[in-house]
Amino acid sequence: MKFYITTPIYYVNSEPHIGSAYTTIVADIIARYKRFMGYDVFFLTGTDEHGQKVLQAAQQAGKDPQEFCDELAEKFKQLWKELKITNDYFIRTTDEMHMKTVQEFVAKMKENGDVYKGIYKGWYCVPCETFWNEDEVIKEGEEHFCPECKRPVKWVEEENYFFRLSKYRDPLLKYYEEHPDFVEPDFRRNEMLKILEGGLKDLSITRTTFKWGVPMKDDPEHVIYVWVDALINYISAIGYGWNDEMFNKWWPADLHLIGKEINRFHSIIWPAMLMSVGLPLPKKVFAHGWLTVNGQKISKSLGNAIDPRFFVKRYGNDVVRYYLIRDIMFGKDGDFSEERLVHRLNSDLANDYGNLLHRITAMIKKYFNGRLPSPSAQEGLDSWLKERFFETKDAYHELMDSYRLTEALDKIWEFIADVNKYFNDTKPWILGKEGNMERLGTVLYNSLEAVFKVALMTLPVMPDTSKEVFRRVSFEEKPSKEHLENWGVLKSGSTVIHGEPLFRKIDAKDFKKVVETVSVEQNVITIDDFSKVDLRIAKVLEAEKVPNSRKLLRLIIDLGTEKRQIVAGIAEHYKPEELVGKLIVVVANLKPAKLMGIESQGMLLAAKSGDTLRLLTVNGEIAPGAKVS
Ligand code: MSP
Repeated sequence: MKFYITTPIYYVNSEPHIGSAYTTIVADIIARYKRFMGYDVFFLTGTDEHGQKVLQAAQQAGKDPQEFCDELAEKFKQLWKELKITNDYFIRTTDEMHMKTVQEFVAKMKENGDVYKGIYKGWYCVPCETFWNEDEVIKEGEEHFCPECKRPVKWVEEENYFFRLSKYRDPLLKYYEEHPDFVEPDFRRNEMLKILEGGLKDLSITRTTFKWGVPMKDDPEHVIYVWVDALINYISAIGYGWNDEMFNKWWPADLHLIGKEINRFHSIIWPAMLMSVGLPLPKKVFAHGWLTVNGQKISKSLGNAIDPRFFVKRYGNDVVRYYLIRDIMFGKDGDFSEERLVHRLNSDLANDYGNLLHRITAMIKKYFNGRLPSPSAQEGLDSWLKERFFETKDAYHELMDSYRLTEALDKIWEFIADVNKYFNDTKPWILGKEGNMERLGTVLYNSLEAVFKVALMTLPVMPDTSKEVFRRVSFEEKPSKEHLENWGVLKSGSTVIHGEPLFRKIDAKDFKKVVETVSVEQNVITIDDFSKVDLRIAKVLEAEKVPNSRKLLRLIIDLGTEKRQIVAGIAEHYKPEELVGKLIVVVANLKPAKLMGIESQGMLLAAKSGDTLRLLTVNGEIAPGAKVS
């Protein structure tokens, strides 16, 4: 029994935030559940590193794109490690093996008559790396915007290779009909069906105006469209074209887990590509909803694109995982609200779950010297508790198997409420006082066995907490579904540890939102950070417009000990002749970068407000080369 699960591969144009971590955490939960159920699991994640969006981010950072991607990919890997993500492999689209597979895959589509040359004329959104037709973009006067992210789109007119996507409309419709569970949730499937019913246009799959991508095998002037490159990761990672045995073991994928905005790529374009080369389609694409944070869209400029580690540090990894699944209905859009998180922590985790274990182990310590008593004759309440467990367990499997993760946790917490009721109704503290040790032993045994069952069922969501519960009840086996099959797995006589409460509550008076404290903290730099920037005064010796550029000026500056050339985007605000003789402030130790093919050996400083831009200068004469600090 195998299970192959994937996440989208993340663009490395910026660092991950709680939104991008969401998919990976959910995939980790499903992977852990499947392993628990005895499946041989392959869990894949990785990074999407080609295309204009990443290239532009590298250029803005003044870095070589490969070096830039290496740094960012490392950050993703490190984060997943810290979040205890159990991926089996991490693919990067700049990996040699992947690039070769992409070339071969596209060559095969061409061989099969599905790729032809044509002229592309249309709009392109770089942030979404998506082509849009004239009738799809939003028009406001002369300006055109992306219907998905609402940012400006660019006009593209190029000779490209096209993929005959239109040919796959009917085969796809048939496939959807024959596999009603292919795309979930069903409202996402319906969206895809609407697109299919409306007809498909052929897709431009190469670009020639930049180089940061995989070159076409027999026409290397063309680089392969970043989405085609990225989707192929799902098969290149498992050996397609380089390890048949491994590939045949894992393909088709059992689950592509994605966010809703990239469903069309996964549920229409990718299946058509696979049909073109004659490979089976993935068994399921599940498109989940989008998170906002404290009611706001996640965005760098709003200061809430926060590194998930800050939340984990404040609340704990298991708590964040639990909260994300329990409070946000899996599949729908939802809000990551810290108030709700704290509420869930205090009430579901600390009160309902942690405190229950605490009360049980306290009594085992007091009355049985920290040894688990044996159960004896069973009464009505005992049978009721067991029955409730078996009902819960069956529902749990059914819900987890159909990825209804939120409802699975709801069921477990209904059971926890029942265990609390059992504990309160059997009144073990009175049994203890009365010295009814036989009955007390039965009640404590059943209560602890019930909590142990909770730890087994919550293991995929809260692995560290479950591990701690197993330690406290001296359960040393490898947890698996067999331990959920029967009641009475815990061994009487074994040591029971009465430790610290499993969860620490957060007091309302101590509650400060991570978003408010960290967004400021994240932007704070030390004096050492600042001293890395070598700011100098320079005198402008020459200035001229860069040919074919609206924005750029080329300046020759005097830095005291040397002359340098810099390129600055100020042509719309200053005439070249206005600048000659001015004393300006420049970053002298910035790595040189090319702008429109001209090397800039530094950067000048300017202030911007709306459409106004003003250069930084000094208040009086000073020698060029003077240090600014
Ligand atoms: N590189 C493409 C995917 C290629 S897959 C062959 C891409 N990358 S991305 O970095 O933009 O990440 C997209 C994924 O990150 C989404 O599909 C979703 O899984 C996750 N999320 C990013 N922001 C999110 C939220 N605010 N909320 C929930 N998930 C989010 O698209």
